[in-house]
Amino acid sequence: MTAVTARAHTNIALVKYWGKADPNLMLPQTSSLSLTLDQFYTDTTVEFDPRLTHDMVRINAQLLAAPASQKVVDFLNIVREQSGQSAFAHVTSVNHVPTAAGLASSASAFAAMAGAASRAAGLELTPRALSRLARRGSGSATRSIYGGFVEWQAGSDDHTSLAIPLQETVDWPIAVVALVLDPHHKRISSRQGMQSSVTTSPYYPAWKTVVAQDLATIKPAILHQDFSTMGEVLESNAMRMHALTLSAQPPYSYFNGDTLRAMDTVRVLRQAGQECYYTLDAGPNLKVFCQTPDLPTITQKFAEQFGAEHVIVAHPGPGLRFLS
Ligand code: DP6
Repeated sequence: MTAVTARAHTNIALVKYWGKADPNLMLPQTSSLSLTLDQFYTDTTVEFDPRLTHDMVRINAQLLAAPASQKVVDFLNIVREQSGQSAFAHVTSVNHVPTAAGLASSASAFAAMAGAASRAAGLELTPRALSRLARRGSGSATRSIYGGFVEWQAGSDDHTSLAIPLQETVDWPIAVVALVLDPHHKRISSRQGMQSSVTTSPYYPAWKTVVAQDLATIKPAILHQDFSTMGEVLESNAMRMHALTLSAQPPYSYFNGDTLRAMDTVRVLRQAGQECYYTLDAGPNLKVFCQTPDLPTITQKFAEQFGAEHVIVAHPGPGLRFLS
């Protein structure tokens, strides 16, 4: 059997995916939109081997035992079903994330896995089909098949829920400054968190309206390189997503004290004429969008506040590719 290696980059959502309509098929409640990033990626090698008696999953050189490997095994079962391949597999996955940054993401992991596993099983999938397959591993992975700005169209079934590239090559001098404020694992996974928001937050219906409006505003802003409109939308969208955690029952929050301090710094920078906007996912680490001429001032400010080793600069990154 042949071993196939694929590389996929992680992405940061500007309009968030926060809630499933169908947890089995991983259909989302709403569409979402992201930017793929160059700095954080996963290389995954898959080889099906008839001699194996179970799947062997290694992540960052560590062999995973059940139940930690269950998500990967479930995903391989979908690939086996689609391909007719019946053997178990060796899976070796390495996350390239600056030292203990806590930014490792299921997006790059399952996008790389979709590429490597499907090809190793003998399937030749189109990017659209790869995007649908990646979705079954993790929702945000749907978007990491493509580079640049990507929209995941919610669709209504397995066939129609997939990502489409909005702008694969980004010819716009923008950057994302990732602030590593807490490298530890999140206490409440995005999977649990979004489920609790859907079922218990009274604001969930309003969130669906917000997302529709934000997508309608941000897509032309990206195409016209209107940084201010894009920034205002991505920042308010993130805050409204986090309002769903505060309004859930029981309420919870991904923010810590440094998150709030960093948000304040973004506002101070903006008032001083350095245009920048923040977003954050299911954890305390802020990602700050800015234009590259402002990078030196902005990174210096955050380095003074949190230490240079906690400030990582990323740019728009590429889509899935095969390394062997
Ligand atoms: C806040 O894709 O990690 O990053 O589909 O359950 O695997 P699962 O969740 P995941 O959730 C991502 C949530 C988010 C927003 C986003 O990336 O759109």
